[in-house]
Amino acid sequence: MSGFRIALMQTRPVLGELEVNLSLMRELAAPHAADLFVYPELATTGYALTDFANARAQAEEPAGGSGLEFLQELAEEKSAAVIAGLPLHERGALFNASALLRPGMAPVFYRKLHLFYREKDLFTPGDRPPEVWEWRGLKLGMMICYDWVYPETARIMAHDGADLIVHPANLVLSHCQRAMVTRSLENGVFTATVNRIGEERYPGEDPLVFTGGSQVTTPRGELTVSLPVAETAVRVVEIDPAQARGKSLTTRNHLFADRRADIYGDPLPDRDG
Ligand code: ACM
Repeated sequence: MSGFRIALMQTRPVLGELEVNLSLMRELAAPHAADLFVYPELATTGYALTDFANARAQAEEPAGGSGLEFLQELAEEKSAAVIAGLPLHERGALFNASALLRPGMAPVFYRKLHLFYREKDLFTPGDRPPEVWEWRGLKLGMMICYDWVYPETARIMAHDGADLIVHPANLVLSHCQRAMVTRSLENGVFTATVNRIGEERYPGEDPLVFTGGSQVTTPRGELTVSLPVAETAVRVVEIDPAQARGKSLTTRNHLFADRRADIYGDPLPDRDG
């Protein structure tokens, strides 16, 4: 297959303003064409949610909700896949989730495994491993923001055949963008980190300053693009998924075959067995 175009949609959501945020997402996408549009973590609601009932009122249900309807429409209009972070209400709990919408297909979700700071007051940590899905010949998995600190998250998806790890984020620490180069190299995959900009504040606390700098990294450890740290921005990046399909570093080194699970004691899940 030839190039696969990823649109990095670096937004500034307004806390608690679902309709405003959906309009902003549509407006930003309007002039662009891509195979996949990616928005940040909690792009529909903003980040510093504290109250369960209030967050629940803005959350999506797996079977639908105004945010999911909007994202599905966008996918159909653009004839593209769309990924966005959103709160997901399911089984009486709230998950910090990302949704993948594809034209003519039901939405699928990833529920954030590693919750950051006060997310722990509101959200339930994800209770299932990240999965790999297919779109236009490309295999992709999703993780969310602070999941970057746990290399196992990306490793599982790469082992399951992901070419691209899509990473909606609301980053407030300064290390992630550099660390994602390593996630790419050690797994032989592309990563697309899509971060937000702006500030939000939990009541009585110092502001959280989101660091922008959305980017795509390649299986060879290159940084193809880095968006501004404090501006809303869109960039379409074309990747060649074939670059993620060979996992050999030298004629004697294979990224996965050389693993020493016998020493680590952490065999990766066997999906076939
Ligand atoms: C984060 O996980 N939103 C820092």
